[in-house]
Amino acid sequence: MMMKIDILTLFPEMFDGFLSTSIIKRAIEKGIVSVNLHNFRNYSLEKHHKVDDYPYGGGQGMVLMCQPILDCLKAIRCADSYVLLLSPQGVTFKQEVAIKFSKTMKHLIIICGHYEGFDERIRNYVDLEVSIGDYVLTGGELASMVISDAIIRLLDGTITTSSHEDDSFCNDLLEYPQYTRPYEYEGSFIPEILISGHHENIRRYRLKESLKRTLKRRPDLLEKREFTQEEIRILHEINEENIEK
Ligand code: 6GU
Repeated sequence: MMMKIDILTLFPEMFDGFLSTSIIKRAIEKGIVSVNLHNFRNYSLEKHHKVDDYPYGGGQGMVLMCQPILDCLKAIRCADSYVLLLSPQGVTFKQEVAIKFSKTMKHLIIICGHYEGFDERIRNYVDLEVSIGDYVLTGGELASMVISDAIIRLLDGTITTSSHEDDSFCNDLLEYPQYTRPYEYEGSFIPEILISGHHENIRRYRLKESLKRTLKRRPDLLEKREFTQEEIRILHEINEENIEK
């Protein structure tokens, strides 16, 4: 079933390259997803299609008004729509959310702001407020592309399933190191085990490298995770190797 993504933005031209390139382009051509851009400025009933105004109570900057955004939203939403509001104040978008959305959503509506804040009452019409990380962007447009990209690549038929089975995070582990030709590059060789042809040893080696890399770079990922017997044995090995050093 085709997923539909509607994006409300004042800057639809920012999406040109995203929608016309590579895997996202192909997913759209294959009918796996449709992505539609809506400039909510076109819904403004104000003079000169104004979309923002001064904050009540005073203060810096402008605030996006309810009317243009919510009239646009009301024109496109239906019973099975799920509405996301993008802001640095939202819950952090994670791979597990991308997986859940890719499996369950028929219709995503994504509201992007730009420069300003939103009138608080817009939040009454939103299912979830999402951020992509702890930094501030000039607008939600890049964030909406990040979120759409993470979801679209997981939809059936976009890429072969095996290409995301090993993704970093999908198992709360970072991906293992990968190598391709040549065998030697400026004195640096690939690990011998990868040309041994012994698939079981290679699988175990890769799991060990994933665990090592995650311990070193993202120990926070391991805290919430249950380990298999094999992983516990490998973690002991890693520990002993580190003591020897
Ligand atoms: Cl969703 N919007 C903006 N403006 N900044 C952000 C963000 C979103 N996520 C992280 N920074």
